[in-house]
Amino acid sequence: MIIEPRMRGFICLTAHPVGCEQNVINQINYVKSKGKIDGPKRVLVIGASTGFGLASRITSAFGSDASTIGIFFEKPSSPGKLATPGWYNTAAFEKQAQEAGLYAKSINGDAFSNEVKEKTLALIKEDLGQIDLVVYSLASPVRTDPTTGITHRSVLKPIGAPFKNKTVDFHSGKVTEISIDPCTEEDIQNTIKVMGGEDWEMWIDGLKAANLLAPNALTIAYSYIGPELTEPVYRKGTIGRAKDHLEATAFTIADKLSDIGGNAYVSVNKALVTQASSAIPVIPLYISLLYKVMKAEGIHEGCIEQIQRLYSERLYTGGNVPVDEKGRIRIDDWEMRADVQAKVAALWEEATTENLPSIGDLEGYSNDFYNLFGFKVGGVDYTADTNEVVEIPGLQA
Ligand code: NAI
Repeated sequence: MIIEPRMRGFICLTAHPVGCEQNVINQINYVKSKGKIDGPKRVLVIGASTGFGLASRITSAFGSDASTIGIFFEKPSSPGKLATPGWYNTAAFEKQAQEAGLYAKSINGDAFSNEVKEKTLALIKEDLGQIDLVVYSLASPVRTDPTTGITHRSVLKPIGAPFKNKTVDFHSGKVTEISIDPCTEEDIQNTIKVMGGEDWEMWIDGLKAANLLAPNALTIAYSYIGPELTEPVYRKGTIGRAKDHLEATAFTIADKLSDIGGNAYVSVNKALVTQASSAIPVIPLYISLLYKVMKAEGIHEGCIEQIQRLYSERLYTGGNVPVDEKGRIRIDDWEMRADVQAKVAALWEEATTENLPSIGDLEGYSNDFYNLFGFKVGGVDYTADTNEVVEIPGLQA
């Protein structure tokens, strides 16, 4: 079939398998171009199909020849029905991994459930024995607690007072004022349940109890801080509380891993266009200004550049892992540079519908958004008849 983008709000309802494949190949080529990393050999990535998790899987496999198991929640393809991008990404990744002689298997299901955890543990036991690195990169709006059966929904809201600021609809380019009402206490608790560290700790507890973590095993989860501009709705809002919880959980897990010489880290990553971040009000405007400034400075990075740098310059240097005063790895260092932030803040004041296309990188934002779904990727013939049904070779039944 001929596959075209079909947008609804900040999601795209279609995905292009060949475009997704090309994206994955581009990321693999980037990692290969940077040379080998003396990194982990057996890696579990939870949230492995898009964004930072996919970049972590690619960096593990093609940067340090790791065997990888990927967990994700994606819609498969069937005749006449397109899959979600993460499905096509994973199919492309596994194909490339197999061709390179690398072990790669995947589990598609709810990572929050006991069932998927048990399945993963059994697969590790059977195939890899133990794991050297667990990457926790889930971004989800909902989680059913397997212990209570209660389904929690996260919200993106300020705490205490309404938040008013500019935002942009990146499809139309229209800059408007938005006002978001503050959350309730229940919203905070729910958001912590979904995006905090509880599930990460459950994964690590399960792996450790089954003796599936290798000596000196590491685990890492991803966080975000960002500028003052977005603080009320991000770092000091409901999602920020969940990130505080995630960051605190790293210490709890680190204690639990100390007897095997292991450790747990949170890496604070850069703001990037992913399916998760495009759903957060205000962030798209910030990102389009940030991209403009960082590209002009020659310091712009995507997910793959961020994770390749995280592995090669922070986690696997052979020396100590550098952390900030709160124990976090900072790979958002270029985003948070004072000169970059000062420029973005000044542009923010000026931004209007009329001038955003020139003072911001709205086009870059929009392109990256299309790319997430395999569209507008260089070298892909979008007029060609494309097979929508793509299998993931190492998908576990
Ligand atoms: P994403 O939306 O690209 O990826 C989310 C992944 O989680 C996908 O593989 C998806 O299949 C999987 N997933 C979601 N629900 C699941 C479930 N119930 N069971 C199994 N898999 C599930 O998200 P992104 O942006 O890569 O986010 C990953 C982490 O990075 C999050 O913790 C996010 O807060 C953090 N981060 C994101 C930044 C950004 O600007 N995008 C910046 C800094 C940190």
